[in-house]
Amino acid sequence: MSVGENTESPSSNEDTRRWFLNAMISFFGAVTALGVAYPVGMYLWPRERKVKGGGKRSMKIPLNDIHVGGAKFIRFLNKPTVVLRPSETQVSALSAICTHLGCVVKFKEASGELQCPCHGGRFDSSGKVLGGPPPAPLVSFPVRIDGEYIVVEEA
Ligand code: FES
Repeated sequence: MSVGENTESPSSNEDTRRWFLNAMISFFGAVTALGVAYPVGMYLWPRERKVKGGGKRSMKIPLNDIHVGGAKFIRFLNKPTVVLRPSETQVSALSAICTHLGCVVKFKEASGELQCPCHGGRFDSSGKVLGGPPPAPLVSFPVRIDGEYIVVEEA
C-alpha cells in the first residue's frame, strides 16, 4: 500500500456519507417540526399571563389628579375607564363603555352623572342606570384610596 492511498473501502465511504445525510435530514426535520409545533402549541394552550408579583393588574392615580366631585378618564386594561371621586373619601372606577350600544360616556360635573352621548343613557357615580335605554349598570372595578393614590384593580 502506498502513502496517501485511501484505506477505506468505497462502501464504507458511502455508508458514512449516507449516515451523515440521514443525520442532517433528521436534525433539520426535527428543527422544522419544533418550529411548527411551538406556535401551534402556544395558540392551543396559551400561557397564563403573569403580572409582576403574580397579582391582578392595577393602576395607581395620584389622589390630587381628581378633585372632590370630579372624574378622570383613563385607559385601564386597554379600555376607556372613568375614575370618579364623589366625596373626599369615596372613589369609584367604572368602565366608560355604555351598556346599551357601547358608546363612551361623558362626565357631567354639574350633576355628577355620566351621560351617554348616543341615546341619552344616564348613570350615577356608582354606575347605576338613572335613565335612558342602557339595560345594565356600568361595569365597576375594585378601587380604593391608598395614601396619596387611588388604586384601581382588575375585577
Ligand atoms: S349607546 Fe349609550 S345610550 Fe345607547
